[in-house]
Amino acid sequence: MSLFRTKSVEESIRDTEAGSPEHRLRRELSAVDLVVFGVGVIIGTGIFVLTGQVAKDKAGPAVAISFVLAAVVCGLAAVCYAEFASTVPVAGSAYTFSYATLGELPAWIIGWDLILELALAAAVVAVGWSGYAVSLLDTVGLTVPPALANPPGTEGGAVNVPAILLVLAVTTVLVLGVKLSSRVNAVVVAIKVSVVLLVIIAGLFYVTADNYTPFIPPAEPTPAVEGLQAPLLQVLFGISPVSYGWFGIFAAIAIVFFAYIGFDIVATAAEEARRPQRDLPLGLIGSLVITAVLYAAVSLVVVGMQNYTKLSEAAPLADAFKSVGSPGFATIISIGAVAGLTTVVLILLLGQSRVFFAMSRDGLLPQWLSAVHPRFGTPYRSTILMGVIAAVLAGFIPLAALAELVNIGTLFAFVVVSIAVVVLRRTRPDLHRAFRTPLVPLVPALSVLACLFVMLNLPVETWLRFLVWMAIGFLIYFAYGRRKSRLGAAAHRAGAR
Ligand code: ALA
Repeated sequence: MSLFRTKSVEESIRDTEAGSPEHRLRRELSAVDLVVFGVGVIIGTGIFVLTGQVAKDKAGPAVAISFVLAAVVCGLAAVCYAEFASTVPVAGSAYTFSYATLGELPAWIIGWDLILELALAAAVVAVGWSGYAVSLLDTVGLTVPPALANPPGTEGGAVNVPAILLVLAVTTVLVLGVKLSSRVNAVVVAIKVSVVLLVIIAGLFYVTADNYTPFIPPAEPTPAVEGLQAPLLQVLFGISPVSYGWFGIFAAIAIVFFAYIGFDIVATAAEEARRPQRDLPLGLIGSLVITAVLYAAVSLVVVGMQNYTKLSEAAPLADAFKSVGSPGFATIISIGAVAGLTTVVLILLLGQSRVFFAMSRDGLLPQWLSAVHPRFGTPYRSTILMGVIAAVLAGFIPLAALAELVNIGTLFAFVVVSIAVVVLRRTRPDLHRAFRTPLVPLVPALSVLACLFVMLNLPVETWLRFLVWMAIGFLIYFAYGRRKSRLGAAAHRAGAR
């Protein structure tokens, strides 16, 4: 049963308050800081890069429907996250929540899964950033050789140097302290949101009604993605893979879901919020609503500006303006993308280091990783470790498959959090909940079903990779965490007495 030993909510909170000073994070973020955090990480590669690819290959102009449906899935998960984050306001997000409810093994699985989500997502976004940065440098006459701007196996690449440099620079900022990084972040988020609004407002003048017909193009077979690359749902139903139509819209949800990843990271900053009970739900739900509205508008405008079959895959927002003869707007949008994607990498790595921090404080990962820097007040060792790993991934791995892997990991975490809300209501009805998920257990149940449905629309090979990653996690838990767990050690001492 020790696999399911739980860490009580009080214990989690006490750990953060009474812990020795070098293991404590500073509480200095306000509600506005948290929304800025959320919007800063949510708007990124998803809208700037994936929109074009998905409209072109999977959904046509109906990509806007996919964005809205993906927001509904995230919204259901967000109200579950909000209850947890307002009840258990400590670092570690879904990891901490599941430790308090489901037990140590499920918590470990979730923590391990979050590492997958955050480190890979940071690498994915850094690669997207590199694409925009290289294209901007090109417009000012500085050409980066393809060998130094792509991973091995892609367009004659050897290593993606700009992506590596970005991740290392962001890691340095994070080691220097949360307040500094959230200030830098606020400026960049303002630039990014302005650019997105520019796309919507300026783009409206170039929309042609013809581009909206057909809005949902009829389904077409795609024999090229037979086998492992076909969505699991289509394989299970014995359908040969199709694009467009409703199956295309569903497959598109599974990809544009990436565009919303990050709102849950607001919850990982719980320990640093000044008034977590009130500010966390505001931060989570506020940032999700703002981005959902922006995404629906941007995607509608872009598919209205250019026929979906002609959209660019690398820089669709900028290239749509080039296609209507406004290259000036295109340059401004590219600059915004470069600035905006930087903040995404920043917050993903911040969330990552916080999960790591929480796990090593509990003894499931080596303790020395959780020590806070005496001057900067940040968990610098785990930040540096994960920054280096993300830099290597960004330098050498192509991003498409990684993005799908990030999505499956995140959806899995949402499923666990949604279940955990119901569990905690049963096991600890007494706890003060500043925010309560509406209509429990209906909303959590819908959240679980919606996430599973989106997961089924991911390719078979993504499922296989995910299972391998989780199997490695199990091995590490049984070889290390299970024996070293602080909770386990405490239980052992109590038993020996
Ligand atoms: N949601 C973030 C993005 O779109 C991860 O880049």
